[in-house]
Amino acid sequence: MTRVFSGVKPTGHLTLGNYLGAMRRWAEVDQHRSEALFCVVDLHALTVAHDPARVRRLSRQAATLLLAAGVDPRLCTVFVQSHVDEHARLSYLLECVATDGEMRRMIQYKEKAARERERGGSLRLSLLTYPVLMAADILAYNADEVPVGDDQAQHVELARDLAVRFNQRYGHTFVVPRATPPQVAARVMNLQDPASKMGKSDDSGPGIVYLLDEPDAVRRKVMRAVTDSGREVEYDPEGRPGIANLLEILAACTNGNPESLASVYESYGALKKDTADAVVEVLRPVQARHRELCADPAYVEGVLRDGAEKARAMARPTVDTAYRAIGLLPPVPEPAALNAVS
Ligand code: AMP
Ligand code: TRP
Repeated sequence: MTRVFSGVKPTGHLTLGNYLGAMRRWAEVDQHRSEALFCVVDLHALTVAHDPARVRRLSRQAATLLLAAGVDPRLCTVFVQSHVDEHARLSYLLECVATDGEMRRMIQYKEKAARERERGGSLRLSLLTYPVLMAADILAYNADEVPVGDDQAQHVELARDLAVRFNQRYGHTFVVPRATPPQVAARVMNLQDPASKMGKSDDSGPGIVYLLDEPDAVRRKVMRAVTDSGREVEYDPEGRPGIANLLEILAACTNGNPESLASVYESYGALKKDTADAVVEVLRPVQARHRELCADPAYVEGVLRDGAEKARAMARPTVDTAYRAIGLLPPVPEPAALNAVS
């Protein structure tokens, strides 16, 4: 059976981009047709300046929202990355396979590093090595597919390269994974700045629809989306990125197609109104379920405890194999255990 792994970082409140680009497919497709693991990747949230209490809060919230989005622990494994030591164990081995140049070529690193330098801040070394930890997340479970938005394509490509290189040097150990981006809404853009991704850690609130936004706030944000000076509704991501973004969001929410939807609308206003309504309807059940789950924190904790146990059992043998393959001496077993074997 195909193995699927994906994750979400608790660096901010989850957005419509996370939902349409990734989480919705995890719930609607992946968990039904594959052996799937979905992870709140909290170690990744430590790569930029962070507040410990906020990371804890956001981790719990992300896990709750995953369940609210329909990810079902009876069908898949839901857990928190730091509860399973194998991620960090494997990450170090992969650091011994990746190169410095490879890391510095990562687009997301270059962008984040440039922003951080502009602010005069210093960069955490973990921001540079982040894609290696992400590769470890994926390779530890021998995942075949990684359902992610477009922004993660380069990172999954690195995971592939590291898997191939490790296998060539030290013998076959890892499955070589591939990214599976969604057909529509692979990159939901910021409503106020359609040249940038709708990212949860960005500061520009008015351009970001959060999964827990009230319907009024959703409508306000969509109605105020930046468009362009044209009048006709056309699907032209290059020339009219604002309108194309709205069409993609509407298409994703209504299982439609952005090009054919474009021909239905004669004005920007009507497109915005329908998009706002469609987003409100898509978020409604997720928000209702989120409220229920918040009233039952023990349930969510139980899911994460069981999830970590299952994930550990899956990752351990692969990571142990990698330790042996790369040349690390196996720990010497207890004499009693030796006797038991002989
Ligand atoms: P992150 O928020 O970076 O942890 O991303 C979690 C998942 O959501 C990843 O698969 C991302 O590719 C996806 N994602 C995040 N932002 C967007 C966006 N604006 N459009 C589409 N997918 C996104
Ligand atoms: N880097 C991913 C993001 O920012 C999150 C992530 C971490 C991830 N590890 C992963 C996604 C493993 C897929 C598989 O979105």
